[in-house]
Amino acid sequence: MFTQLLAVLFSLLTLSAAYSTDVLDTLRRDSFIANAAYCVDQMIFLTSETGQTALTQNYGLNFTTVFSPNFTEAEVTGNSFIAVNESSKTIYVSFRGGASIGDIFTDFDSDVVSYKPLYSVPKTTCDDCLVHDGFYSQFKKFSGSVFSGLMTIYQNNTDYDVVVTGHSSGGAYALLFGIELKSLGHSPSVVTFGSFRVGNDNFAKWVNKLFSVEDAASSVAANKTIDQTYVRVVQKQDVVPYLPAGENFTHAGLQFQINTNQTYYPTIEQVEFDSNYTVSTLDSSLSGNFFTDIYSLNLTFTGHTSYFRRMSLPCLQDSIVF
Ligand SMILES: *[C@@H]1O[C@H](CO)[C@@H](O)[C@H](O)[C@H]1NC(C)=O
Ligand SMILES: *[C@@H]1O[C@H](CO)[C@@H](O)[C@H](O)[C@H]1NC(C)=O
Ligand SMILES: *[C@@H]1O[C@H](CO)[C@@H](O)[C@H](O)[C@H]1NC(C)=O
Ligand SMILES: *[C@@H]1O[C@H](CO)[C@@H](O)[C@H](O)[C@H]1NC(C)=O
Ligand SMILES: *[C@@H]1O[C@H](CO)[C@@H](O)[C@H](O)[C@H]1NC(C)=O
Ligand SMILES: *[C@@H]1O[C@H](CO)[C@@H](O)[C@H](O)[C@H]1NC(C)=O
Ligand SMILES: *[C@@H]1O[C@H](CO)[C@@H](O)[C@H](O)[C@H]1NC(C)=O
Ligand SMILES: *[C@@H]1O[C@H](CO)[C@@H](O)[C@H](O)[C@H]1NC(C)=O
Ligand SMILES: *[C@@H]1O[C@H](CO)[C@@H](O)[C@H](O)[C@H]1NC(C)=O
Repeated sequence: MFTQLLAVLFSLLTLSAAYSTDVLDTLRRDSFIANAAYCVDQMIFLTSETGQTALTQNYGLNFTTVFSPNFTEAEVTGNSFIAVNESSKTIYVSFRGGASIGDIFTDFDSDVVSYKPLYSVPKTTCDDCLVHDGFYSQFKKFSGSVFSGLMTIYQNNTDYDVVVTGHSSGGAYALLFGIELKSLGHSPSVVTFGSFRVGNDNFAKWVNKLFSVEDAASSVAANKTIDQTYVRVVQKQDVVPYLPAGENFTHAGLQFQINTNQTYYPTIEQVEFDSNYTVSTLDSSLSGNFFTDIYSLNLTFTGHTSYFRRMSLPCLQDSIVF
């Protein structure tokens, strides 16, 4: 009797941690798209197998726009692309992570500034919301071109799904961009990999409401596919999701944590779904002293490049395995 009860309890526990393999496939696909932003620019080591032409020919991505910062407009970051997969009827918006000096200066400008969406007045205002100065000020400068680029494509393809993604600081821009679309009444999916923290606790709570993260959490726990919400993928030893450290920043969204550093290609058992979106396991594992945490959590920068493939530069074969 007792062992039966244990067995039932055990199966309930394992069930609640499980999620659909479709979800993992979606995360894998989106990590490909997030990483592709490192591949489309003319950058070092780019090969004919991994550049934009190859991505078009081998993966059916129809690039409609590739953005680079306009330095005369004081933009120093925001490299990104819009591409369409016509067979799956998906429009991707992908923001590149840090690869330039401008990106790095932006990452470290971690003062907080008051936040509101740029292109709409959302139904519920974000009260006492503070966000990362570097990301938000750059976003204000460059996002208009990405936004109008997307609207041009979207106008003629309103039945297409929109997926907004990015790695590292690209994750921060993906969230800010996704919020704009969501506030305008669209239904994008936002999926980020190893993203920096973007804003304070009020901002995170507001983002969770905007993206109905509570419903999405139940839906994933019920073995359904995820769609049209905000998903954040972290690697257990990646230091970047803990940055900027301190009480001014936290995370929102549904968290999936890659729990191995032995492979770029984790199995579903190695990618843990955190159903507690109110306080992620990431935040609850912190002691308050960043330097102690780095040591006790074994945080590294190598963890930052392991998201279903080798992420970031250089873009080689191992970064584009689908
Ligand atoms: C979960 O969904 C997948 C399809 O995505 C299905 O193959 C699997 O049997 C489902 N598992 C449970 C426990 O319902
Ligand atoms: C995809 O590319 C083809 C050829 O370049 C073009 O004719 C078509 O309009 C593009 N589709 C979209 C949705 O941009
Ligand atoms: C960059 O900005 C300047 C000044 O506004 C403008 O003249 C120029 O056309 C822009 N360059 C690009 C590539 O958009
Ligand atoms: C494009 O869509 C097709 C059909 O759903 C899918 O097989 C393919 O993997 C997709 N490619 C990308 C890069 O999303
Ligand atoms: C949208 O469709 C209209 C009418 O078919 C066409 O004139 C226009 O070029 C299309 N825009 C894009 C960006 O494909
Ligand atoms: C949090 O932000 C406030 C400004 O709103 C600033 O005075 C304070 O130093 C910041 N805290 C940390 C730990 O950076
Ligand atoms: C989520 O975490 C918070 C803080 O640790 C805790 O109070 C709450 O009960 C947790 N919720 C669930 C559903 O586990
Ligand atoms: C950190 O690494 C050590 C040595 O590999 C291991 O014993 C410890 O459990 C790790 N800590 C965490 C939080 O994973
Ligand atoms: C994985 O993490 C452990 C604990 O921090 C570390 O000792 C090991 O070198 C890491 N392995 C790789 C391949 O990064």
